[in-house]
Amino acid sequence: MPDRCEVDSLPRMDPKPASASVTSMNELVLPSDSNALGTAFGGRVLQWIDICAAIAAQRHCRSRVVTASMDAVHFHAPIRVGMVASLEARVQATFTRSLELSVKVHSENPVSGERRHCCSALLTFTALNERFEPTEVPPLRLDTEDDRSRQTAAEARRAARLRHRVESLDA
Ligand SMILES: CC(C)(COP(=O)(O)OP(=O)(O)OC[C@H]1O[C@@H](n2cnc3c(N)ncnc32)[C@H](O)[C@@H]1OP(=O)(O)O)[C@@H](O)C(=O)NCCC(=O)NCCS
Repeated sequence: MPDRCEVDSLPRMDPKPASASVTSMNELVLPSDSNALGTAFGGRVLQWIDICAAIAAQRHCRSRVVTASMDAVHFHAPIRVGMVASLEARVQATFTRSLELSVKVHSENPVSGERRHCCSALLTFTALNERFEPTEVPPLRLDTEDDRSRQTAAEARRAARLRHRVESLDA
């Protein structure tokens, strides 16, 4: 019996395009999400980033995933109460048992429609099998030159991340 994913009925390990798992998420920023300045807490924005990326990672892998790491996040602009935090997650690259995703966050004024880039993040997820052990991820289908250069750039970042993983144990 081939190992098939339930949703798209492809064999689970066939290469998949990034477009198949792109995930959009919108959150209305409420007072309970905010700090004393009336803008979204950084921690809340990180939570939304993690959730959005996890959904995209699961859509790609069709398996359980866990966040292995999140790269440094720089907040360029605040998201005020009453604005919509609009997130989009996309698979950047796949490795053997892990994959890198990007999440872009915009603040959207729901009345005027004006959008402003607030932050971007890169996260790595590890796919887990039914015994909660790391397991292979389906490769990303690299159709264009852009797809291939994103994969190459992510491989360099992965090497740096794994070095940092070891160093952070002693921090
Ligand atoms: C992430 C985790 C599953 C890795 O397990 P492990 O037994 O150390 O497994 P390995 O070292 O064999 O790594 C498995 C894969 O994860 C990747 N990985 C592990 N730690 C990583 C890190 N800090 N950053 C990036 N990738 C990482 C490895 O490169 C490998 O992927 P690859 O095969 O594509 O190279 C494990 O450390 C864990 O469960 N961490 C806690 C996760 C968690 O609770 N997250 C928050 C809530 S979801």
